[in-house]
Amino acid sequence: MGRVSDALERHKKEKVIKIKGLPIDRPEQLVAKRPESPLVPGLATQNGVSPEIVVLSAPESIDAENFKVLRAKILFPTNGKKPRIIMITSAFPGEGKTFVAANLAASIAIGINEHVLLIDCDLRRPALHSILGYSNTHGLSEYLTEKKRLSDLLIRTRIKKLSLLTAGSPGPNPSELLSSTMMKDFLAEAKERYQDRYIIIDAAPSHITAEASVLSNHVDGIIFVVMAQKTPKEPIQRNIQTLGKEKILGIVFNGYSKNYRAYHKHYKKYYRL
Ligand SMILES: Nc1ncnc2c1ncn2[C@@H]1O[C@H](COP(=O)(O)OP(=O)(O)O)[C@@H](O)[C@H]1O
Ligand SMILES: [Mg+2]
Repeated sequence: MGRVSDALERHKKEKVIKIKGLPIDRPEQLVAKRPESPLVPGLATQNGVSPEIVVLSAPESIDAENFKVLRAKILFPTNGKKPRIIMITSAFPGEGKTFVAANLAASIAIGINEHVLLIDCDLRRPALHSILGYSNTHGLSEYLTEKKRLSDLLIRTRIKKLSLLTAGSPGPNPSELLSSTMMKDFLAEAKERYQDRYIIIDAAPSHITAEASVLSNHVDGIIFVVMAQKTPKEPIQRNIQTLGKEKILGIVFNGYSKNYRAYHKHYKKYYRL
């Protein structure tokens, strides 16, 4: 990935987020589907989607272009085998996993045919809900622990063809939950039932939690995010080895480093093991 998009910075400075051409799929009806999850005020723009979804807020930016390239690599793989379940991870927090997961998902969903299910599997520090403008009252955790019906948990977002399963309330054993047979069956069934759907998983950091490694068994491919010039080499190599080199679809070099130090300093608070 190139450096932080100038376009996004411009958008931030302009204060008003203009999202041109955002496909809005009957928003009232979609919000009503989960009335207990109103938009989180302040987190979302007037369209309900954060400006961090640069493929929509800054479609002319370098980052948006880079996501198009990544999307093409996934939709038209050179070996002809389309990876349908894709996990995004990185060694440490604050390296852009959620940013990449959300933008890649949006980038695929705004294409002509493909549907996307975006799943927040960072149960310790969920973030996809806020970037897409929803609260996180229930989601994957409730599906796995309370056997809630998936149809009651899935959110059809304001981006057409993009569904979201939020992480839900934090529980004590995220790695056990994600390594459960139920999780495995859920992913296998989702892949089988929705043939036209890509499943994108936003995972926890691979160097300090077990979740990414647990999930790697259930996914077709992994995108590993690296903070350019920042993430130390050794953990990158070790993590890629543990996750399974053959599953790595690519490495995204994220040039954005504004929050890197701060996130590092505080990560223990969120990722207590
Ligand atoms: N390339 C980028 N351009 C703009 N903002 C970015 C970029 N990468 C990360 N960010 C921002 O940095 C912060 C941390 O990124 P995030 O995706 O939440 O990291 P992680 O999920 O790895 O913890 C977020 O506010 C995110 O929007
Ligand atoms: Mg995240």
